Amino acid sequence: MTNPSLLILAGDGIGPEVMAEVRKIIGWYDTKRGVTFDVSEDLVGGCAYDKHGTPLHDDTMAKAQEVDAVLLGAVGGPKYDALDFSVKPERGLLRLRKEMDLYANLRPAQCFDALADFSSLKKDVVAGLDIMIVRELTSGVYFGEPRGIFKEGNERVGINTQRYTESEIERVARSAFELARKRGNKLCSMEKANVMESGVLWREVVQRIGDTEYPDVELSHMYADAGAMQLTRWPKQFDVIVTDNLFGDLLSDLAAMLTGSLGMLPSASLGAPMANGRPKALYEPVHGSAPDIAGQGKANPIACILSFAMALRYSFDMGAEADRVEAAVAKVLADGLRTADLMGPEGGAPITTSQMGDAIVAALDASL
Ligand code: IPM
Ligand code: MG
Repeated sequence: MTNPSLLILAGDGIGPEVMAEVRKIIGWYDTKRGVTFDVSEDLVGGCAYDKHGTPLHDDTMAKAQEVDAVLLGAVGGPKYDALDFSVKPERGLLRLRKEMDLYANLRPAQCFDALADFSSLKKDVVAGLDIMIVRELTSGVYFGEPRGIFKEGNERVGINTQRYTESEIERVARSAFELARKRGNKLCSMEKANVMESGVLWREVVQRIGDTEYPDVELSHMYADAGAMQLTRWPKQFDVIVTDNLFGDLLSDLAAMLTGSLGMLPSASLGAPMANGRPKALYEPVHGSAPDIAGQGKANPIACILSFAMALRYSFDMGAEADRVEAAVAKVLADGLRTADLMGPEGGAPITTSQMGDAIVAALDASL
């Protein structure tokens, strides 16, 4: 049997620092569990632009299509703000999502007990929180045409287009229903059917898929603005949420913060099954490149490590090992170890990115 293959695209800012800690976990699986990943590494984002003049080289794109899973750190930084839109670091990430056709973006928001006090919301609102946002990732206003900045009379007009086909809605709805079945059997779909035709179609299609294929899953619909409000009011009313690309971008940042820090939240972006039965997949933390703290050992590697755990679960059918990594993270947090982002207003002594990685490896050792 060939080893499972991984392409690591650490990217910009804190990306390489947090990915170095994931490397330790991958190394641990090799030496302690006899699970060897064939790891290759390449550039994405600003660093790819610096070297190749494009945020994603065609060769890198081709490699991403071949491996079992891609692990991505983060892209972007102020250095690239003035670049033309077509070569901005973010375009590299969007190209990966689009060309790999990673239509279902899973963004779990789970509140670790040790951090319940750290949320900006009251402890009883977030303690034990475990929800999953499924964000459509390859369509909607991120990719719709026409788009651009055009001249209209004597002023300019900026245009983006929200566009969803029925089949695009159907496939992400099915992903969300399947997940709901494995969890609390409850799905809430969010759009703006009160003002957007694409939202009307979204609601109709999700309802039809529910009625015809998943009558056992409890389905509800909410306007996305009300959804944002309900997520902060009483997030535990939700189990799985399915929503479009842009609303999913906003709602997942909101949900992430319920758990205490954006530095904690992983994601999986999944597409159709490949010939080997594994889904096309890219795993990345929800947080960005955080250029303000890059290179200082302040970044929290947990979101990236938990993204690797999601790879174990969704790409490699190693759910028990994913549980092991998640338990190791819970253990170090319960032991009081905190990176700078997890320091409350009362302060304390944060540990470094690398110390956090080492602590998680030690907790993995202890789990054997
Ligand atoms: C995310 C990010 C990206 C997005 C950016 C970096 C393009 O915010 O993954 O949530 O908007 O999708
Ligand atoms: Mg975002």
